[in-house]
Amino acid sequence: MNSSNNVERHPKTVNPNSSTFSLSVNGERHTLTLDNRTTLLDALREHLQLTGSKKGCDHGQCGACTVLVNGVRINACLSLAVMHEGDDIATIEGVGEADHLDPMQQAFVDHDAFQCGYCTPGQICSAKAVLEEIQAGLPSHVTYDLNTPIELNDAEIRERMSGNLCRCGAYANILKAINQVAEARS
Ligand code: FES
Ligand code: FES
Repeated sequence: MNSSNNVERHPKTVNPNSSTFSLSVNGERHTLTLDNRTTLLDALREHLQLTGSKKGCDHGQCGACTVLVNGVRINACLSLAVMHEGDDIATIEGVGEADHLDPMQQAFVDHDAFQCGYCTPGQICSAKAVLEEIQAGLPSHVTYDLNTPIELNDAEIRERMSGNLCRCGAYANILKAINQVAEARS
């Protein structure tokens, strides 16, 4: 077999370990060609330069990488980017603007619900999803009565936010911030 035939059968431009796919991030369409093993978190941070979503543990244990996929929160470090063909991803960069904060961002400011801020993007994405989950009637481990609308109380919020760790220990003020937004919505 001569070398030119070999090149034709295995063009160097095709990498069997990579894929080309499209996804929407904060309303903007992106087409990426990435190694199939690239996580959604690395795709966002390293390839789209959206560094708001943080890498705390890279093992699904801290929640710092929380983003919304088609409105549902996930840990971006546990999901392969290539799985998100056609999905709508929302990251903290798409939540509010510096001079027009989202109500959840404003509540975190009002209640001093952060110190170093490293966990905060994930906390805010998660908190916004928590309120939607409760409104949609999705029960949690501490939901007592499955036959009536879910009561939005501190136990529900704490349980639903338990996947978002804060090494600065801002939990009490995070709870107050979420309650502020919940009360404003009710
Ligand atoms: S970085 Fe994803 S859960 Fe910690
Ligand atoms: S504010 Fe520092 S880890 Fe949460």
